[in-house]
Amino acid sequence: MKLPYIEPYKIKMIENITTSTKINRKKWIKEADFNLFNLRSDQVIIDLLTDSGTGAMSDNQWAEIMKGDESYAGSKSFLKLRQTIRDLLGFQSFLPTHQGRAAENILFSAILKEGNIVPGNSHFDTTKGHIEMRKAEAIDCTIDEAFNTESDYPFKGNLDLKKLETIYKKYPKEKIPITIITITCNSSGGQPVSMKNIEEVSALSKKYGIRVFFDAARFAENAYFIKEREKGYKEKTIKEIVREMFSFVDGCTMSSKKDAIVNMGGFVAFRDRSLYEKVANFDIIYEGFVTYGGMAGRDMGALAQGLDEATEYEYLQSRIKQIEYLGKTLQKFNVPIQTPIGGHAVFIDAKRFFPHIPQSEFPAQLLAIELYKEAGVRGVEIGTLLADRNPITRENRYPKLELMRLAIPRRVYNNDQMKYVAVAIKNVYDRRNEIKKGLKIIWEAEIMRHFTVKLDMI
Ligand code: F0G
Repeated sequence: MKLPYIEPYKIKMIENITTSTKINRKKWIKEADFNLFNLRSDQVIIDLLTDSGTGAMSDNQWAEIMKGDESYAGSKSFLKLRQTIRDLLGFQSFLPTHQGRAAENILFSAILKEGNIVPGNSHFDTTKGHIEMRKAEAIDCTIDEAFNTESDYPFKGNLDLKKLETIYKKYPKEKIPITIITITCNSSGGQPVSMKNIEEVSALSKKYGIRVFFDAARFAENAYFIKEREKGYKEKTIKEIVREMFSFVDGCTMSSKKDAIVNMGGFVAFRDRSLYEKVANFDIIYEGFVTYGGMAGRDMGALAQGLDEATEYEYLQSRIKQIEYLGKTLQKFNVPIQTPIGGHAVFIDAKRFFPHIPQSEFPAQLLAIELYKEAGVRGVEIGTLLADRNPITRENRYPKLELMRLAIPRRVYNNDQMKYVAVAIKNVYDRRNEIKKGLKIIWEAEIMRHFTVKLDMI
């Protein structure tokens, strides 16, 4: 019999979970204005709000914390991280930042102007926020398959080359300072981009003289899917695949809180030294000197170690199989989810879950609230609340996908806990027709409203 996969690690330390009752949770979610970001962590039993900064570091990462060199300039921890980025990604220069959006901030401060266009595959919300804040436009060129949650197309993160070329033809290249490929594509369901697509986007962009960067937050998970799903990569190691992926682009922004399995950190990496120099000024102004940029030395050491661990096959296999386990259990219960199952999360299709609740009543947020009340599980809405308003017309934007995301922290929960989550969702699904009304907004911020929005039940 073929031996099953296992987690290639064992548990050395645990953190207790505070349990609660349905009565308490109903009270708490009302006090939180039906916004799950307002809950205290001890009001949550299983926290699947995000996989960002919530991973469990290894003993070797903690050892790096002890070895951290806190010199203001030229620390050993910085040099170690630089060497890891050079070896793993092939970029000679990089700038540390305190997290991913800070990497976006310093890069866009240097290259993006009012009226510019930034094509990409469903830009993440902070990326879009940074673009729109500068009165530039993010244009989504994701393939149409991504918006059909029932299709099992293996690379739903891919960019549509026709859509991309239309933009390249429409605008002069001076108006398009960058194209961003987000790997994996978070907003379309943690879906990967194929090596072929990366290569083609790169070639097309070269032809039009436009630079391409990765938003590399989940680059290792993307590489795993290439190994598993794309012809010609079965025998390659994850590190070889990563190296090839990055060989097609000019640089990347990285939120290290995801695939580098640290609690804080980020960076921008560059092939071109002259661009590095332009961006470095903004790192110094906003983040810190170029050899720490908002990170402690110890955190850079842990990040270097994390990059190495996260690009090992056994780790990635156990991680992605856990997401698959949750997804498949939900499918057995007939719960509608985005397929194929993503790399960091399971996305429930709220339009199919609550077909009787219109998008104007935030069905994905409603599902997140019902799940919390049912079992203390915290997911997050990736739908109309997150899509926000059109910055000019101030009309609500209704995205094609109305999803509730269950993001799984790395190396934190076990499969029994995943089963608990699946049963909780089944219970909500079984009583879905008793839930007749959605939510309305009481108060919202000007930009990125979903973090602080106040809601009430209709
Ligand atoms: N890019 C992607 C694809 C992301 O998913 C995120 C964060 C960022 C950039 C920004 O990075 O948080 O370090 O500033 N995503 C988190 C999430 C918040 O829950 O998906 P950050």
